[in-house]
Amino acid sequence: MNIPFEKNNALQQRAARVMPLGVNSNFRYWGEGITPYMSRAKGGCLWDADGNRYIDYRMAFGPIILGHADEAVNAKVKEEIDLGTLAAMTYELEVEVIEKIVALCPGVEMARLACSGTEATMHAIRVARAYTGRQVILKFEGNYHGFHDYTLWSTYAPAETYGNKNSPIAVPSSSGIPKALNELIITLPFNDFDVLDKTLKAYGYQIAAIITEPCQGNCAAILPLPGFLQFIRQKCDEYGIVFILDEVKTGFRIANGGAQEYYGIKPDLATYAKALGNGYPAAAFGGKKEIMSIVGQGVAQGGTYTNNKPGVAAAWATLDALQKQPILQTIAQRGQRLMDGVRAIFAQAGIPAVVQGYPAMFTFAVGVEQVTCQREWSNTEKEYYLRLMDALMERGVMPDHDPREPWFLCYAHSEADVDETLNAMEEAVKKVNR
Ligand SMILES: Cc1ncc(COP(=O)(O)O)c(C=O)c1O
Repeated sequence: MNIPFEKNNALQQRAARVMPLGVNSNFRYWGEGITPYMSRAKGGCLWDADGNRYIDYRMAFGPIILGHADEAVNAKVKEEIDLGTLAAMTYELEVEVIEKIVALCPGVEMARLACSGTEATMHAIRVARAYTGRQVILKFEGNYHGFHDYTLWSTYAPAETYGNKNSPIAVPSSSGIPKALNELIITLPFNDFDVLDKTLKAYGYQIAAIITEPCQGNCAAILPLPGFLQFIRQKCDEYGIVFILDEVKTGFRIANGGAQEYYGIKPDLATYAKALGNGYPAAAFGGKKEIMSIVGQGVAQGGTYTNNKPGVAAAWATLDALQKQPILQTIAQRGQRLMDGVRAIFAQAGIPAVVQGYPAMFTFAVGVEQVTCQREWSNTEKEYYLRLMDALMERGVMPDHDPREPWFLCYAHSEADVDETLNAMEEAVKKVNR
């Protein structure tokens, strides 16, 4: 890294003595000598331990939708925590948060809060299993639904390990996941109508839920092919399967009503976290009243911190802002300019690249003409992407150090930030050899 990095490196070495890899989440470790440590964040920017300032396009993996340290959100949190942080009883504020979620998200009639996306998908899966009396879960390769064992399969393994696309091998993404769970998971390539259809003909009546991200928010923002989400909806109806749309990344980001509004589709259950709380721990899962009503009727769900006041207050203030101001429209307009600019830079340099996703969360895959699933994405130029990222970091722009992770925008990103980013990108593409 050709920028001051001594303090980052010293902190990494100190942290590694007491924390595995020196971080509290595997994804935050980029490697020796290149892992930044943060000192502060404000608006669309953050500063590392060495004082380097970056325009931030990680947005904490998506949660920051208004901007870092948003004043209205922080003010609401400060006001509310003085009235108590946790009571193990229900506050009116959390009722209002769920009312807002129900008002904004077309398919959500009832919901419950959770603390993280992992919890939200875990609870939704239990409800789906309880509702259908079935156990198998179907997910798509390259999608990520949190750290629990049920769906941490075929998320980021090398595509060669997945076997033939007509009979994919479910690959656990960690040691420690019980082998027995292999019996309860089916993994399929995303966007493959035919394989999904055949699999459902064979196993459809054993499947409790099909869970999917609307786009592959954990694999280069690969979009659903036209009709793919509708096809899942139709097949779930045909086989009595619960359709869980994991909106942890898309919710309150690509539209106020998330992918449900964007695509005009109603899943049976949906999961939310990230942008719901603008960086505070807030999450939710919800959907059809008929399904959600079984919670508490022999179906367990809860958690000491599900209504943690900072998270609930932040969710209230974030949703309030989304309801009152054209926030996502503004982000979409700036994000579109950034996407178009990045596309033009690659085109001008004669580099084949697919720039895809939504203006509020997009990325690019280099060296390919199209990418519709993780198997295709694995043919992209990942090393080149990483070298481009290093060159961007040196120019004050920070996307994630993982080519699968989208670039996220927030309301605090200005037109000037977009200009600065495009200048940095143009220089980086000129400088870095493919
Ligand atoms: C689509 C999706 N679902 C679930 C999760 C898990 O959320 P959390 O990290 O809050 O547990 C993530 C996290 O990145 C995600 O992208």
